[in-house]
Amino acid sequence: MEKIVSLCKRRGFIFPGSEIYGGIAGFWDYGPLGAELKNNIKNEWWKSMVYDRDDIVGVDAAIIMNPEVWKASGHLDSFTDPLVECKICHERIRADQEDRLKEHEEEHAKNKEKISWTEPKTFNLLTEVFLGVTEPKQKTYLRGEITQGAFVNFQNIVSSSRVKIPFGIAQIGKAFRNEITPGNFTFRSREFEQMELEYFIKPDEVGGGKMFNYWKEQRMAWYVMLGIKKENLRFRTHQAEEMAHYARFAEDIEYNSPFGWKEFEGIHHRGDWDLSRHKITYKDSEIGEEYTPWVIETSGGVDRAALFFLLDAYHEDKDSSTKLGTSRIVLKLHPKLAPYKVAVFPLLANKPELVKLAREVYEMLAYSTSSGHATSAIAPVAWDDRGNIGKRYYSQDEIGTPYCITVDFESLEKKDVTVRDRDTTKQERVKIKELASFFLKQLNK
Ligand code: GAP
Repeated sequence: MEKIVSLCKRRGFIFPGSEIYGGIAGFWDYGPLGAELKNNIKNEWWKSMVYDRDDIVGVDAAIIMNPEVWKASGHLDSFTDPLVECKICHERIRADQEDRLKEHEEEHAKNKEKISWTEPKTFNLLTEVFLGVTEPKQKTYLRGEITQGAFVNFQNIVSSSRVKIPFGIAQIGKAFRNEITPGNFTFRSREFEQMELEYFIKPDEVGGGKMFNYWKEQRMAWYVMLGIKKENLRFRTHQAEEMAHYARFAEDIEYNSPFGWKEFEGIHHRGDWDLSRHKITYKDSEIGEEYTPWVIETSGGVDRAALFFLLDAYHEDKDSSTKLGTSRIVLKLHPKLAPYKVAVFPLLANKPELVKLAREVYEMLAYSTSSGHATSAIAPVAWDDRGNIGKRYYSQDEIGTPYCITVDFESLEKKDVTVRDRDTTKQERVKIKELASFFLKQLNK
């Protein structure tokens, strides 16, 4: 974990929020590489939810809503937890989760630590905001889950698009929770991003169960498809007493993190909780009935995904392909998630003819308008002409760039370049004019 935190800072993935003023607990800023990684996660999610299916549409609702929404949704009364806090590591656990309390005590016991807990306290996690400039200001809340924005727009979406039950509403956006003890880097933050699907179905016990199972398998498969090792993922069913107020049934996808198995994403059977509280019904023209639909929800955290993808991708490897030494850090990120897809180097920065050709290769791949190729899937492309080639390879390995191109003296004659693979460190020569199609093929495998 320490290695990832330091890599994130050093290479521009994640910085502490407001750092020059001493930071602020629970807030993080994403640097150039972190912004790319997060965008890639969100784009892949959106593609799999919205573009690759015809039963899901998107929405992008406001962060601040009428406070009546939070009354109806139950968050004002029930978005509270009776929590105890471990006095050693400050992890908070619900006071009624005896198994987890015990598990936590045992984890510390392995390090010969005997822990004690604070008295249970009840916390509401909604963050208050005040609108207007004259008193009395209107009190409302930053959204504690992005979910309600999908529900309050249910009727707008049904009447403005062609969706019919069963169908889903997908959304990505910021949520805020007034966490008392934010921690474990970005894992528990006060401001974070969620990617959520609310899938609406006809009320039916059997159909609801099937849909729940379908979505939990889909979501697990998505993380595996993007490279998370299967053995580092598991499902965990919520006990009745730990379930959120809106849930009839809930399972988490958990990740085997350096600080234990932790929630990655929640799959919730919300039944008719939300729509009935908002007094929303649906006229089903196919069966000629009006009913309150049920909701199956998948709710993932973009920041947790970024953190767990980074942790899972982190390797220290032996590399015999350069003379630099024996070990290198490599982020084996799935190419679809890697911040840079390709890096381009001139072999020597003081040879203008090499720099010129390398620059042409860079521009051909990096700028979508320059070459007539559909290269946007390859962007962004990195450029590096500092230090020796071995160091440049290592520098790209450390941020997960799948391919490095070197333009050398042979390139001037033969119009080809060396392409080096991050994971195998193998090198092959590829004709410059074939580079775009070569990478499009590699990156879309
Ligand atoms: N709409 C349902 C919902 O919000 P949740 O289990 O409370 O469910 C869903 O949250 C996901 O949001 C979590 O699995 C996690 O990935 C992310 N998340 C929740 N609280 C978070 C926090 N304080 N910091 C970072 N991510 C968080």
